Amino acid sequence: MKILGIESSCDETAAAVVEDGTEILSNVIASQVELHSRYGGIVPEVASRQHLLAAIPILEQALEDAKVSSGDLSAIAVTNGPGLAGSLLVGVNLAKAIALAWDLPLIGINHLEAHIYANWLGQDTPLFPLIALIVSGGHTDLVLMVDHGELLRLGRTRDDAAGEAFDKVARALGLGYPGGPAIEQASREGVPRYRLPRAWLKGSDDFSFSGLKTAVVRLAEELGISPKPHPNSLAADVAASFQQAVVDVLVTKTMATASHQGAEQILLAGGVAANELLRETIVRRSPIPVLIPELTLCTDNAAMVASCGYFHLLAGEVAGWDLDVLPGLKLG
Ligand code: KG4
Ligand code: ZN
Repeated sequence: MKILGIESSCDETAAAVVEDGTEILSNVIASQVELHSRYGGIVPEVASRQHLLAAIPILEQALEDAKVSSGDLSAIAVTNGPGLAGSLLVGVNLAKAIALAWDLPLIGINHLEAHIYANWLGQDTPLFPLIALIVSGGHTDLVLMVDHGELLRLGRTRDDAAGEAFDKVARALGLGYPGGPAIEQASREGVPRYRLPRAWLKGSDDFSFSGLKTAVVRLAEELGISPKPHPNSLAADVAASFQQAVVDVLVTKTMATASHQGAEQILLAGGVAANELLRETIVRRSPIPVLIPELTLCTDNAAMVASCGYFHLLAGEVAGWDLDVLPGLKLG
């Protein structure tokens, strides 16, 4: 079964065709990163207007790359939350229009669940029960998954998401936007010499990153590092210390939860899962197998939406024409 996936929840317009939930036939992404970088973050009105411009060409490209036409598709899967309302509306309305025109089932997809499904697009099939760590710009969730469609959110961030902390710290250090790749790049030149606080929240599966972020901002001020772009070695050391602190907490807490829940595997998902130190550390330290999507499938894409859509379709879960956007949608 070939499913067309559509994703427009944040600042990437994406369309993809995936066969049987696992094989990518096409995966097209138009990123708005450059457009938003001059503002130091995403401007929602600019994002939705850009989605409108990009959506149809991206869709046509995805069908062309996959060498399929409407008659080859079994369903249309689209992200309907969480995300920016105006951005989500573009993808959902496009999906509705073509599902109606092509007489295909429509499937509404939770963006966070879709991130987990990026792991079904790799070489190894994930084994249940598993613990998924979703680390993106808006979320940091620890999820127990016992089967397709059976997800329980065990923990979440109580304040900043991990990716959000990367973005804010990068801004304070003058390293640019998006912050995750900028911090990672700067850290390569630095040494994690500064002791920064780690919020363990013992006995809970929750996270907290705002104390760490504030400590970094204060340290940067003490060291005279300005938020104006001018990379220097002090900023590189602070970036490396921050990255080390985030990775320590994410890895230690995820492994503790996996052990406590008797998980077979750990899955990473979301933009921060592209971080090399996180990937390398969790694989090295975990006693159970860790699956991590390839780099381009960690950040927002529509292949993960199509994969997730396949498993919903198998379960007979299709949406009605009243499918609406749910900007605050949660997992489980
Ligand atoms: O999943 P995603 O593409 O979009 C959301 O759903 O939020 O995640 C974007 C987040 C941003 O905060 C970005 O700074 C972070 O992922 N990110 C990274 C890296 N690449 C992207 N964080 C750390 N290291 C990276 N290499
Ligand atoms: Zn995402």
